[in-house]
Amino acid sequence: MKRDGATISIWQNNMPDYISQTHTLRAEIYDVLIVGGGITGISTGLLLQKAGKKCMIAEAKTIGFGTSGGTTAHLNTFMDSPYNEIEKNFGEGSAQLVFTSAKQAIDLIEKNIKEYNINCEFSEQPGYLFSQDKKQSKELEDIFEASKKAGCDVVYSDSIPVSVEFNKAVIFKKQAQFHPAKYLYALAKAFEDAGGTLVQGCRITGVNKNSPLEMESDRGKIIARSLIYATHVPPGVNPLQFYCAPYRSYAMAVTLKDNNYPDGLAYDMYDPYHYYRTQEIDGEKYLIAGGEDHKTAHKENTEACFTKLESYLHRYFDIAEISFKWSSQYFQSTDGLPYIGYLPGNPLNVFVATGYGGNGMTYSHIAAKVLTDMIVLGKSEYKKLYDPKRIKPVAGFTDIIKEAADVVGNLIGKWFPSSKINELADLAHGEAKVVKYESHSIGLYKDENGNVHAVNPACTHIKCKVAWNNAEQSWDCPCHGSRFDADGEMLTAPARKNLEKIDLREINE
Ligand code: FES
Repeated sequence: MKRDGATISIWQNNMPDYISQTHTLRAEIYDVLIVGGGITGISTGLLLQKAGKKCMIAEAKTIGFGTSGGTTAHLNTFMDSPYNEIEKNFGEGSAQLVFTSAKQAIDLIEKNIKEYNINCEFSEQPGYLFSQDKKQSKELEDIFEASKKAGCDVVYSDSIPVSVEFNKAVIFKKQAQFHPAKYLYALAKAFEDAGGTLVQGCRITGVNKNSPLEMESDRGKIIARSLIYATHVPPGVNPLQFYCAPYRSYAMAVTLKDNNYPDGLAYDMYDPYHYYRTQEIDGEKYLIAGGEDHKTAHKENTEACFTKLESYLHRYFDIAEISFKWSSQYFQSTDGLPYIGYLPGNPLNVFVATGYGGNGMTYSHIAAKVLTDMIVLGKSEYKKLYDPKRIKPVAGFTDIIKEAADVVGNLIGKWFPSSKINELADLAHGEAKVVKYESHSIGLYKDENGNVHAVNPACTHIKCKVAWNNAEQSWDCPCHGSRFDADGEMLTAPARKNLEKIDLREINE
C-alpha cells in the first residue's frame, strides 16, 4: 500500500495496493463523481451508491494514499475543538448537533462493519482526557461541563491507562478504534460490488461547469451531474483554502518490554497534544502514540519531531522497539468545525468535505451522511452547521486566480550547469536546500546514492516557496499544504501540477 511520503505507517505494513475492478473509464453519465479515494470518498460513494445513485470514485494515486493511510484511527465523539469552544462560537444547540452527528458517524462505521462482515479490529474504547497543571485542570472542567451538555457520556476518573503523571482526568465513554486500511479496502470492495466505478491513477485536471459537469482527467473525460471533492482542500484555487491550515502530525508504533499497553484511548492537553492507544496486529501488540504537530513546512527539521516524540515516550514507557514511525497531514478550519457541503464559488452541484482537524475518521463519516442526504434528499439536518459558505470572501481573490494561471513553466527551455550548482549547494547525501543561481531559485535534493534532484521551488498552486520535509523526503508548501516528491511529482492537492523539474547538465569548460 503506497503513501504520500517516505515513511511507512503501521497500516501499510503487509497491505498490498488495492486492486480495483475497473481500470478504464466508462462512457456514461454518472450521477456523482467523487474525487479522492480516501475514507471520505469511499464511505460517501458507498452510501450514495446504496441510495440508488450511479457513482464513480476517481483516485489520483491508489486507495488510502493520503491521510487515510497515515491516521492513528481514533474514533471520537469529542473533538479537537472541545465542546466549550464549539458552544462559545456556535451556540449550545450546535454543540449538541456536533455530538449527535459524531455519534451517528461511529454508528455508521459499526453498521458498515457488521453489514459487510469487515475484519478490521474495531473495538469500543473509553477515551481519557487528562490535565497536568492547574490551568489545564480548569479547562478540563469547562470541557467536562460543555461535553455533558452536548450529550457525551462523560465522567471524572481517578486513573488513566498510561503511566503519565496527571492532575485530573475524565472518561468519554463509547469511543472506538479500528484498522483503517482494512476497513477502507473492504468498503471500497463493497462500493464496487454495489455497482460503483472506482478508478485509481485517475487525476482530475479540470472541471467545465456545464450541466451536466464535464471533468477532464488524465484518463479521459468524465461526465457527472454532481461532483464531490474528497481531497481535503479542493484542487485549484478556491477561497476555502484560505480558511484551512495544513498541519503535519507524527506517530509511532512501538512494542513495550513490560507489556503494559494502555487499555483505552488517552490524550493529554498540551498544544500540540500527545495521544495514545493500543493496536494488536497478527498477534503482536503495539502502543501507537502521536503528537508534535506543526503547520506544514513551518519546521526546518521534521525528522527532529520524531526524535522529540521518541524521547517523550521514553520518559513514560519501557520501549522494546520502535516498529513504525510516520507522519501525515490534516487540515484545520479556522473556526474549529469542518466544511461539509456546497463548495463556495461553484454551482450547487459541487460539494466539498474538509477541515476535519485531527478527527478525520469521525468527520469522514459525518461527511458521508451529510453529502448523501444533500444529494439524495436535497437536505440534511447538519447542512447549516457544517456549511462551507460560512467563510467570508477572500480579499483580492480574482488577482490570486490570475496569478495562479501564470505560475508554471517559467524555466521551460532553460538548463543549469550541474557542477556549478552542486558546488554552490554543497549537499551531503540525504540533504536538501534551495539555492539561488543567476536570480533563479533551485530546490535541490541529493539522495542517499548521490543523485541530485532539482526542481523549481515555486509551488504550482499560487507560487509560495516550498520547503524540504526531511522526514518524508518531500517538498511541502507552507501556504496551503500542497506536497511534491523529490522530483516534483505532486503528492497532495490543492496544486494541480507537478513542480517544474530543472534540467542540470554537465558542461565541459
Ligand atoms: Fe498554495 Fe502552495 S499550496 S501556494
